Amino acid sequence: MFMFEVKQYSGNRKKDYEQLIKQIDALIDGEPDIIANLSNAAALLNQFLEDINWVGFYLWKDDELVLGPFQGLPACIRIPYGNGVCGTAIKERQTQLVSNVNNFPGHIACDSASKSEIVIPIIINNEIFGVLDIDSPIYDRFDKVDQEYLEKFVDSLIKGIINF
Ligand code: SME
Repeated sequence: MFMFEVKQYSGNRKKDYEQLIKQIDALIDGEPDIIANLSNAAALLNQFLEDINWVGFYLWKDDELVLGPFQGLPACIRIPYGNGVCGTAIKERQTQLVSNVNNFPGHIACDSASKSEIVIPIIINNEIFGVLDIDSPIYDRFDKVDQEYLEKFVDSLIKGIINF
């Protein structure tokens, strides 16, 4: 019977992120269901990351992003290509690190508490799959270390998806 063990994190960000990557690899190992894996990924990130108010996925369906598994308040459901931080991450195929959402032209405010945001595009075999989106209620919450490891986290998810 599966029971998730909440790990004690050390406070050393890089070490803790490395442990997080091992946790996601173990959680998705052998499981082909994408929605199940993305749901556990959102839950894992939600218990790991401090000072966040929303974490989840938007998935590419019929030429737009559609809300997927997440933790946080109910959010906007559909985001067109190129719109908001999420649509921009897809258009540019690059992580968007936004220290102040008020300064991001076209930012889509789903939760008025959100002050900063990071969005990592998920591209599989050169095709758009979706994005990982994380919001924080404080300005400047995410930095290059978060970006580096959250991109690795997404790489682990992609490997899990490709394996089936
Ligand atoms: N802020 C995002 C929209 C999604 S919510 O943050 C959950 C954006 O501008 O694309």
